[in-house]
Amino acid sequence: MRMRKKKWAEGWMEEHSGYITSTPQDYKGQWKKMLNKDILHVEIGMGKGDYLRQMSKMYPEAAWVGIERDPSAAAVAARKAVEENYDLSNNHMICGNAEFMLDWFGENEIDVIHLNFSDPWPKKHYHKRRLSSEKFLNIYKTLLNENGKILMKTDNKDLFEDSVLYFLQNGFTLTDFSVDFRREEHSEDAITEYESKFMEQGLPIYRLCAVVDHKE
Ligand SMILES: C[S@@+](CC[C@H](N)C(=O)[O-])C[C@H]1O[C@@H](n2cnc3c(N)ncnc32)[C@H](O)[C@@H]1O
Repeated sequence: MRMRKKKWAEGWMEEHSGYITSTPQDYKGQWKKMLNKDILHVEIGMGKGDYLRQMSKMYPEAAWVGIERDPSAAAVAARKAVEENYDLSNNHMICGNAEFMLDWFGENEIDVIHLNFSDPWPKKHYHKRRLSSEKFLNIYKTLLNENGKILMKTDNKDLFEDSVLYFLQNGFTLTDFSVDFRREEHSEDAITEYESKFMEQGLPIYRLCAVVDHKE
């Protein structure tokens, strides 16, 4: 469900452009250097940013960048981070559409991409907007390094089934796969806003890990 528009969002983000940027091209190829880490995780469609904030606390040795195209959600995510006053030194946020990621990150710059509860776009006509569709997978293949991987979680069986095919048909191998990820304790992985709602309803969480077959 789309978040109600926050009138303060654009102005707040302009004032905090040192943490949430709408000109990520300025950092292309420089994210690890800027955040002073050797490993870069990128979450696409971070919503209100709970996952990014938790994971960047749990894994302070890595750099974490969250992308969100909805300015209201992006501003809420960044404001929570700034107002919680936690360590922002290993993380950063981008307000923008991931379609343009090739302008924002260098080739082989990213180690791990996280797709959490991406919009399922059920109508066939809109499948190409899915963040796991062929167009996006080709972008990720350029940006992920040799050992790069994509971690995807969803509640949506149709999206999950289709995505398995997208990955296998576009040069990825699945190294992990679960149709009930939260059946067991997974304290190594934070629970997102959407995930906690589905878990409360007793719904299964689907999850996969995909690695790039080989880099040309
Ligand atoms: C269903 S919400 C899930 C939010 C969060 N990841 C979670 O699990 O709670 C999907 C989010 O992805 C964002 N999104 C969808 N397509 C995007 C794109 N092309 N670029 C950046 N964000 C996108 C939407 O605006 C929305 O906030």
